[in-house]
Amino acid sequence: MTPDVRPLVAGNWKMNGTRQSLGEIKAMAEGVLGPLSEQVDTLLCPPMTLLYVATALCTDSPLMVGAQDCHQKTCGAHTGDISAEMIADCFGTHVIVGHSERRTDHGETDHIVRDKACAAHEAELTAIICIGETENQRDAYETLDVLRRQLLGSVPEGATAENTVIAYEPVWAIGSGVTPTSEDVAVAHAFMRSELIRRFGEEGKMMRLLYGGSVKPDNAAKLMSIDNVDGALIGGASLKAEDFLAIYGVYEGLIAETL
Ligand code: 13P
Repeated sequence: MTPDVRPLVAGNWKMNGTRQSLGEIKAMAEGVLGPLSEQVDTLLCPPMTLLYVATALCTDSPLMVGAQDCHQKTCGAHTGDISAEMIADCFGTHVIVGHSERRTDHGETDHIVRDKACAAHEAELTAIICIGETENQRDAYETLDVLRRQLLGSVPEGATAENTVIAYEPVWAIGSGVTPTSEDVAVAHAFMRSELIRRFGEEGKMMRLLYGGSVKPDNAAKLMSIDNVDGALIGGASLKAEDFLAIYGVYEGLIAETL
């Protein structure tokens, strides 16, 4: 956690979920009603097909709804793509950009990711910019170099603590059930914090730094208690309301410990 930074617990459903999953969204929307929501933000990013109906289900809930990607242009001849404006039009508030699966599957470069973050900001969405090293890069001790390069390349000049969240997702930890050690997460997050402060000053101090990659109910308290970890970006464990809410719930204890 970072003093004075409000944690964010975010779910990324990736290419999962149909109308049959709306019950889970409803259960999440209801599950986050309560006093903890005054101190911790929650967000769900379902597939685009469910975005509009998900925002409708969340109108009376603090659970925010976002998308998993946007195009860098505002409109035009880009078959199959979705603009940031379209996400905002469905009452989405956030968009994930630069997830490693998009960097790999769709050849997205830091430059493209930065343009997507700019498009998100123009539509008044918060961009969740994902960065993280591959297994080979980790084994070659290149993690901090990769993070520096991706932060510089993917985070636009106009980034503020309000419109930008950074998610550190080591590629090898995604969907693998393996997480880095607490020490490694602490080093990576402290490094990102110092890079952001160097570039953005006070804003960099307050920018939220999420950890993502095999976050589960049983490891969430350990991961979320690390300095400069201001929340989680959760894949598999966000598909079930029970698991998502259990991860959110660890903040009950963590906040009590800081009092
Ligand atoms: P898992 O939680 O399934 O490892 O996925 C993490 C992720 O990629 C979230 O964006």
